Amino acid sequence: MSSNSRNATPILEARGISKFYGAVTALQNIDFHIAKGEVLGVVGDNGAGKSTLMKVLSGLVIPSEGTLLLEGKEVKFNSPRDSRKLGIEMVYQDLALAGNMPIYENIFLGREVTRSIGGLKLLNKNLQRKMAEEHLSRLKIHVKSVNQNVEDLSGGQRQAVAIARATAFNAKIVIMDEPTAALAIKEVGKVLDLVRSLKEHGVSVIIISHRMDDIFYSCDRVMAVYQGTNFAESAVPETTRNEVIGWIMGTKGNTERLAHDTVDTGNAH
Ligand SMILES: Nc1ncnc2c1ncn2[C@@H]1O[C@H](COP(=O)(O)OP(=O)(O)OP(=O)(O)O)[C@@H](O)[C@H]1O
Ligand SMILES: [Mg+2]
Repeated sequence: MSSNSRNATPILEARGISKFYGAVTALQNIDFHIAKGEVLGVVGDNGAGKSTLMKVLSGLVIPSEGTLLLEGKEVKFNSPRDSRKLGIEMVYQDLALAGNMPIYENIFLGREVTRSIGGLKLLNKNLQRKMAEEHLSRLKIHVKSVNQNVEDLSGGQRQAVAIARATAFNAKIVIMDEPTAALAIKEVGKVLDLVRSLKEHGVSVIIISHRMDDIFYSCDRVMAVYQGTNFAESAVPETTRNEVIGWIMGTKGNTERLAHDTVDTGNAH
């Protein structure tokens, strides 16, 4: 877990990333890294810069400064299409699913499986259904049928379909922007189990969340973004909820003030 991230070349690294929107500094000289198969939690207050950083990693936002390295090699993304080709997928908070279309079509949206008949490319719906079923069962996602429309699913099932969509094409890195924010407790557990199952398949997962339970249940490491900077980070077993909550508010060390349970106060980063 943490030894993994220290020893190997990170699968994805960002160095000195800044993003300016006119006079607004959304990100300021951020360094970032994630290892293969690592689950990284990203926390921070509203407006801290979490989504902007993730959009830089997925090519939706082009940074004003800084470089990205994929498996040690510098890469430049001009759009999410560029990052997707290299195995980076982002699940956006609004999920971007088509409600009036069946599950299997959503999974293949924009990447339809075709077959050629006499030079004509035809959508191969039966093959799509079969591939969607196999993929969902690999991820232990249970739905009644892949023919169900997405609008008839629960919030958690929709989130699962969005994650299935992001991972259907051999993604190496999946970025999830607040995947549990809109979910009932029962469904949160299922999404977090899905994160663990991706990790077991060697996928790296970045998960933005405001919920400490999510971070401490599913993440190997946690990073706090504060006012556009990488404020602090730690392997999850080496920190506490109270310390991380302090980082979100821009305080380090001196966690006694916030502590309700036992906190190692010698643990300032
Ligand atoms: N397209 C944009 N144009 C101008 N300012 C922007 C743009 N996108 C983000 N910002 C600003 O950049 C800062 C960081 O925003 P960002 O969405 O990354 O925050 P966040 O950490 O994801 O917050 P939240 O927890 O509320 O989702 C904010 O001040 C935001 O207003
Ligand atoms: Mg955000």
